[in-house]
Amino acid sequence: MIKPLLKDPPKLSVPFLDLNEHNRRIAHEWRAALDAVTAQSQFILGPAVERFEAAFARYVGVPHCVGLNNGTSALQLALHACDVGPGDEVITTPHTWISTTWAISYVGAKPVYVDIDPASYTLDPGLVERAITPRTKAILPVHLYGQSCDMEPLLALADKRGLVLIEDAAQAHGARYEGRRVGSLGRVGCFSFYPGKNLGAFGEAGAIVTSDDAIAARVRRLRDHAQDGRHHHVELGYNARMEGVQGAVLDVKLRHLDDWNAARRRHAERYGALLAGVPGVRLPTATDPASHVWHLYVVLADGVDRQILIKRLAERGVATAIHYPTPVPLQPAYAHLGHRRGDFPVAEDVTSRCLSLPMFAELTDDQVEYVADAIKDCVGCH
Ligand SMILES: Cc1ncc(COP(=O)(O)O)c(C=O)c1O
Repeated sequence: MIKPLLKDPPKLSVPFLDLNEHNRRIAHEWRAALDAVTAQSQFILGPAVERFEAAFARYVGVPHCVGLNNGTSALQLALHACDVGPGDEVITTPHTWISTTWAISYVGAKPVYVDIDPASYTLDPGLVERAITPRTKAILPVHLYGQSCDMEPLLALADKRGLVLIEDAAQAHGARYEGRRVGSLGRVGCFSFYPGKNLGAFGEAGAIVTSDDAIAARVRRLRDHAQDGRHHHVELGYNARMEGVQGAVLDVKLRHLDDWNAARRRHAERYGALLAGVPGVRLPTATDPASHVWHLYVVLADGVDRQILIKRLAERGVATAIHYPTPVPLQPAYAHLGHRRGDFPVAEDVTSRCLSLPMFAELTDDQVEYVADAIKDCVGCH
C-alpha cells in the first residue's frame, strides 16, 4: 500500500540533479578557462581540447584519448575504426540508453541482444557465447549506472573467439574493474560528456580512449572529415570534432572528478543504510563498492506500483526518473528484428520496476535523509 497525497506542502524539495549548484561551486575555474578559449577564438579542437585529451588519457590509464562531439559519435567512430560494418553482428545489452544500439545500426551492422545479469543489470557474460555466430564481429557491453560490467569473462571470450571488445563507458567515468579504469580494458572505450554525466561538458561532447595507436589515429582522422592532410579525404568521414569550450570545461572538471565520485559513493552508502530492509524497494548491488561511481542510484519497486510511488514522491518534493522504461530491442525502431515480450525476461522485469533516486555529488546529507524518509513514508514504513 502506498500512502496517499500529503495535506501540507513538502518540507524540502530534492531535484533529480542540480547542475546549477554543481557548476556554481567551480565557476571561477571554468570562467578563466573559457576566457582563454574565447580570447584565442579556438572554438573547434585546439589547445584546450588537446590538454583535456592528454589529461583524460592519463586518468584512464591509456596512451590515447580523442575528443569528439558526443558519446553516440564515440561509439560509431569506434565501431567504424574497428572495421565493423554491413553483414557484421555486434552482441550488446537490451538495457541501456538507445545510443549504444544506434551506433551499431549507423555502421550498418546488426545488434544482437543478450539478457542482463539480475544483480548488476549489466550484460550477462554467461549468455554471450551462445549468441556468437560466424558473423559476430564485436561485443559492446555497457558499464551501466556507474558500475563496471563483469569484464574478465567477456575479455576471455573476445580473445578466444577473435572478437573486438568495445566498452560503452558513458555512465562510468572513473569506475574501475579489478583496479583498472573502465575504458582501458577493451580495444576502445567510449565516453559521453553529456552535461548530466559524472564528468559533464557545457553542451554535447564525447571521446574515445584506446591503447591502440592505429585506432587512435583513425578516429582522429575520421572525426575531421577523414582528412590525412588539408583537403585530402581518405575515406568516408564525419564532422565529429570536440569544441574548444567543451575541452576547456572538461579539463577543469576532470580535476574534481574523483572527489565528486567519492561524494556519490557516500550518498549511495547512506541511501543503502537508511533504506535497508524497507519493504517496497529493492536496493542496487555494488559488486565492488569502492569501484562503483554511482552515475545513477536505481532501486526496483518491489510489490508497490512504480507510477504511484513516483507520484507520491513528487508530492513530497522528491524528483525521480526511469532509466529505462523499455528494453531497446522492444522499441518500435527495432521492430524489424522481430523480438517479443518474454525474449529478455530480466531486462523486462528491471525496466518495468526501476526507479532512479536523486543522485549527484552536491546532494546534502539532509536531502539524502529526506528522500529516504519520503520513501519510507510512501510505503507506510514510519
Ligand atoms: C550508456 C550510454 N551510451 C551512450 C550515450 C550517448 O552519449 P551522448 O548523449 O553524448 O551522445 C549515453 C548518454 O547519453 C549513455 O548513457
